[in-house]
Amino acid sequence: ISSDAWRSILPGTWFFDAGLTTTAMTESAITYLDGDGGVLRYRGYPIEQLAEESTYLEVAYLLLKGELPNKVQYDAWVNDITHHTFIHENVRKRFLEGFHYDAHPMGMLVSAVAALSTFYSDAKDIHNPEVREKQIVRLIAKMPTLAAAAHRFSVGMPFVYPDNELPFPANFLSMMWKVAEPHYKANPVLVRAIDVLFILHADHEQNCSTTAMRTAGSAHADPYSSAAAACAALYGPRHGGANEAVVRMLTEIGSIDNVDAFVESVKAGKTRLQGFGHRVYKNYDPRARIIKKVAYDVFEVTGKNPLLDIALKLEETALSDDYFISRKLYPNVDFYSGLIYQAMGFPIDMFPVLFAIPRISGWLSHWSELLDQDAKIVRPRQLYTGAPERNYVTIEQR
Ligand code: ACO
Repeated sequence: ISSDAWRSILPGTWFFDAGLTTTAMTESAITYLDGDGGVLRYRGYPIEQLAEESTYLEVAYLLLKGELPNKVQYDAWVNDITHHTFIHENVRKRFLEGFHYDAHPMGMLVSAVAALSTFYSDAKDIHNPEVREKQIVRLIAKMPTLAAAAHRFSVGMPFVYPDNELPFPANFLSMMWKVAEPHYKANPVLVRAIDVLFILHADHEQNCSTTAMRTAGSAHADPYSSAAAACAALYGPRHGGANEAVVRMLTEIGSIDNVDAFVESVKAGKTRLQGFGHRVYKNYDPRARIIKKVAYDVFEVTGKNPLLDIALKLEETALSDDYFISRKLYPNVDFYSGLIYQAMGFPIDMFPVLFAIPRISGWLSHWSELLDQDAKIVRPRQLYTGAPERNYVTIEQR
């Protein structure tokens, strides 16, 4: 039913929906999510097929343009992204290197993405399709470079320039680790694992950060500023920080012998089982199933993360316990992703950054869609609960 139709049925009526849990904020043709069935599709394609067959850059094209590219389109797209991976020297030398020596890489990323708008004078020309496409390409291409630069600064290592002979995910791994290992050549299994993780994190319909992107975008803010708003939302531990919480929880549990006692403390309401439960999925998160398989591939190369056995025992215990079954609590995307990132050598601070790198393509797809929709500015109402009208009292009389 259209908003105009609602207005004629319920003139002047508002709905109170804290957290917008039952409000569709927009129409969207990008991602389909069925939380009860555990289904996720990008532009109609099941996530399982994309994770098996596709690449992150192909998925980014699909999300943005609505269709899979043919060979010519794909090659042109990859070429375009590959030739925009460099960041302006001032972004690195003046801006990123100006941060405090122990700056959090996600804090640096939020700021650097916002700062990019000042480097591209055409950024505000959002109604020109060619200029819009250029900003989209720039942002997708520069995210791994900014991410790796932020990491290296935060651990005191020199910046590594992009190597545009390498495919997108291998280039990112090279910028992350190259000088630490001078003859570094990324293992193909790890390159593919990162690409699959990027595919799985590319979009997830109207989550908190995408809503932030749509909200800033609805005011016609430029794409860099809108993406910085989205990055800021993702920085929140309730959104981009759950896989970090999983690793900390597993570390605290420490041994499979402690799993039963931990589960009892969860059931007693003392703590939550991190990486379990989801606002939308009331079934196994399809991404978690794929990630679990990726984890085994990665551990073949890196050696098993010692926390894996605790995670497996926790999952087995929870999935056969009535507390979790009755509340429809299943592993979500974060349950295994942190274990993979940790095994690959990423510090915990980088986990939300690793989420932001591919999610930029989802954010930009929604940004582009809302401009095509000529969407209204997001401006919800509230239920006022403050003081009634009262008269001003001078400071001497208070
Ligand atoms: N462990 C134990 N109990 C839980 C958990 C959990 N992880 N999640 C929900 N519950 C219980 C609640 O205590 C509540 O029980 P009650 O009915 O007896 O009070 C019931 O399940 C419903 O929980 P809500 O908090 O109402 O569910 P909501 O949909 O609001 O929360 C959320 C979803 C925030 C993801 C929650 O499941 C959670 O905190 N999970 C752990 C953190 C996590 O993994 N977050 C990542 C989400 S995925 C992402 O952002 C990419």
